[in-house]
Amino acid sequence: MFGILGVFVGMLTTLLAVGFTKEQLVQAAALTVLGGGAGLAIGRRVSPMALPQTVAALHSVVGLAAMMTSAAVVMEPEHHAGGLSNLLLATAYLGVLIGGVTFTGSIVAFLKLAGKVGSKPTILPGRHAINLGLVGTNAATMAAFMTLAPTAPAVGAALLAGNAALSCIQGWTTSAAIGGADMPVLVTVLNAYSGFALIAEGFMLDNMLLTSVGSLIGASGSILSYIMAMNRSLTNVIFGGIATNTAMEDTTKGKSVVKTNIEEVVDTLQNAESVIIVPGYGMAVAKAQYAISDMVANLRKKGIEVRFGIHPVAGRMPGQCNVLLAEAGVPYDVVLEMDEINDDFKDTDVVLVIGANDTVNPIALEPNSPIAGMPVLNVWNAKNVVVMKRGMSSGYAEVPNPLFYYPNTKMLFGDAKSSCDQLSKGLSTPEGEGK
Ligand code: TAP
Repeated sequence: MFGILGVFVGMLTTLLAVGFTKEQLVQAAALTVLGGGAGLAIGRRVSPMALPQTVAALHSVVGLAAMMTSAAVVMEPEHHAGGLSNLLLATAYLGVLIGGVTFTGSIVAFLKLAGKVGSKPTILPGRHAINLGLVGTNAATMAAFMTLAPTAPAVGAALLAGNAALSCIQGWTTSAAIGGADMPVLVTVLNAYSGFALIAEGFMLDNMLLTSVGSLIGASGSILSYIMAMNRSLTNVIFGGIATNTAMEDTTKGKSVVKTNIEEVVDTLQNAESVIIVPGYGMAVAKAQYAISDMVANLRKKGIEVRFGIHPVAGRMPGQCNVLLAEAGVPYDVVLEMDEINDDFKDTDVVLVIGANDTVNPIALEPNSPIAGMPVLNVWNAKNVVVMKRGMSSGYAEVPNPLFYYPNTKMLFGDAKSSCDQLSKGLSTPEGEGK
């Protein structure tokens, strides 16, 4: 609500400060109603599960707006007090460049997050040479643009259009090379880019507020990206895993898993003293949080210690699993972050992995794996691991998971909600009481 209020007041004061004519104010009001209406319609239709891709899609609009305003200012310099100054030309060029990368990069992020294209990295042959070539051409066209635009507007416009096309291609190729597991990092990087585009716009329009807000978004987005990249180098993540070997051999081929059933898991749980539950995206899909909450209450009634281990990128958006568990009334004090609980698995009797996959994948420890360096929850150190999922499909990063084949792992196949309901029922029967 504060966000809505802030944007509304911001728009209103900007329009008043600019001193528009009545006709222009009517135009602005009509566009606000159109944009606001579209935003409202999209917001109402989007389910919480689809929020990450919606955020990515909306970032693309920020990029497009940056490109359009930058181009507009160059096309109509008479509306600008300083005319076509070097500062205006440079910032307009950068606005189009950053805006273009943000625009197409965010579209790729949207398509990957929404599952409309595969989340595997698209590795073009010679992609680093292509990207370097594109950046080099950008530098050359920027110099030409700044020299020629004031005297030959048509050439300037053509160079700016070329810049727009190049940056859109760059946004696309760079983002397509980023694998699914790194999508959260890409979204925060693009968020930081939209801040940098705002800084350029702030200088261009001589607007201190835009520059300061842009710096805030750019700096906080960069810090967030650095944190989200976890132990991996950010350049490695962004430039498509320079050091990764996507042709890594699948060591799980030909191996078989050990299946288990509800009765056996109920029995294992009843004989346990300590249990850690690791939820992931599958919990959110199955809407299993209420069933899990019931199961936890039943376990706690029997004096069994139950805690949750939450990976920073579990689910599809930061904090998704925490929010769902809180919604179902799971007490906060038993929900722990990865760093708080990762050393405790070795002293734990049972780990229930509920709809999580990439975030518990020991393949991350292999130096040449596609998710190398990403810290994971070391669930395999527990005495017993029960993995609850519907089948053998991989997680978001589309990498095989050797955990399923470990000697202390058993697979409980089925929808997470239905399995948790049955476990909870099994644990509530009198035979199970009085441990
Ligand atoms: P994932 O690795 O995506 O695995 C989820 C698993 O849930 C799947 O293997 C799937 O297997 C299972 N599943 C799906 N529906 C289910 C259901 N109804 N019942 C039971 N199981 C179900 O999940 P994760 O461990 O939470 O990892 C998150 C991944 O998403 C990471 O790669 C992360 O980088 C990426 N990502 C995260 C974010 C943020 S910010 N959190 C944003 C974008 C992407 P079956 O189909 O066999 O059931």
